[in-house]
Amino acid sequence: MLSEKDNHLLTRIECDAPMGHMLQDCFWVPAIRAGKLERDGAPDRVRLFGRDFIAFRATDGRVGFFDEACPHRRASLALGRNEGNGVRCIFHGWKIDVSGKVVEMPNEHRDPERMCAKVKVKHYPVREAGGMIWVYIGERAEPPRFPDFEFNELDETQNNITSSTINCNWVQGLEASLDDAHVGILHESHMSSYKAKHMSLYEGPPPAYDINLTRYGFEAAAIRHMPDGTTASAITHFAMPWFGFVSTAVPQVAGTTRRVVFVAVPIDDVTFKQWFFSYDMAGPVEKFFGGTANYDQDDICPPLGDKSNNWGQDREAMKRGHATGFTSNLLAEDTAVQMSMGRITDRTHEQLCSADKAIATARQVLLDAVRAHQKGETPTGAHPDIDWRAIRAWTVQDDGANDWREARTYPLQAAE
Ligand code: FES
Ligand SMILES: [Fe+2]
Repeated sequence: MLSEKDNHLLTRIECDAPMGHMLQDCFWVPAIRAGKLERDGAPDRVRLFGRDFIAFRATDGRVGFFDEACPHRRASLALGRNEGNGVRCIFHGWKIDVSGKVVEMPNEHRDPERMCAKVKVKHYPVREAGGMIWVYIGERAEPPRFPDFEFNELDETQNNITSSTINCNWVQGLEASLDDAHVGILHESHMSSYKAKHMSLYEGPPPAYDINLTRYGFEAAAIRHMPDGTTASAITHFAMPWFGFVSTAVPQVAGTTRRVVFVAVPIDDVTFKQWFFSYDMAGPVEKFFGGTANYDQDDICPPLGDKSNNWGQDREAMKRGHATGFTSNLLAEDTAVQMSMGRITDRTHEQLCSADKAIATARQVLLDAVRAHQKGETPTGAHPDIDWRAIRAWTVQDDGANDWREARTYPLQAAE
């Protein structure tokens, strides 16, 4: 449960909201799948934090990231022509290169060169890494350190990126990725098809949580005492400000090189982009949810509807034994419940239980961070010496004689 004030501070990211300001000021944002941008192809619209941008790949392969509105009279550059290493507004033909310089102004007769040099174009630094285009849209002249997660050194054959746009606030998405206890319940029916492979953990009892705060967020062990006498600890990480390194989707037992990261990036206050980075450090990765159906990589869970159709829930399927009536895939279950909580859920009325410990901790880390940022201090996750590469989800299952921490295969970056 949160006060109305804290819920507001936690969730709102548009305009002057302090959370939006901190996120844009201190962090690089995963913005668009790199493979979506073709050289000289159509500019792609990207909306982040209630702001509208375009991204395009120029003739030489470099990526430009600008405000969508043309600097002249604000026609959409998404309509523009991408040609000869720049994007040209179709209204009066102003052409802007990747670096944000106006290079042609065909409607200016007096001194086009001087006018070109005077125009300021809002453009943003980009990094192409791990098959993603990342952007820094904050105000700093020198962007913060880029998070060099291990997946950021892979290409698309080893990092399968999928995404879906969900019509509710980004924190609801983040919370779902840290909610280990929902997996065996909400996804019960879909789990049965995965179970044979690697989901036996979720047939166990509900987990107890054990959490360590770290310099980037926290690690949360969901500990289950299994019917066969073993103890299974599934360790998920929350990395500021929106990354969930989830041990759920692919249990990270010793020797496993395949991993999944969930990322909830705000589009505006009431919409977010759910990214899934499914990667394998050792070689080509199998597609995430690849077995379920043909799907659009950039829209993995097409719109389900709304309250009026219960987001497409199939009661007949439930009569036949399906747990939720969302038969298409397991993401439809996540999407429907997240949207059913309201566009921005009212956390003043919720009643948390012990299974919500990781969620409550993530909220606290984010609220502490935004308050620190308001005071001019460096928030959690924004210190330049964090070892982002070392963060990985994992699972240990043994006789329970030893504390799970002793089986850690990476250094703990403890919070000070
Ligand atoms: S509005 Fe774009 S060139 Fe005039
Ligand atoms: Fe889920």
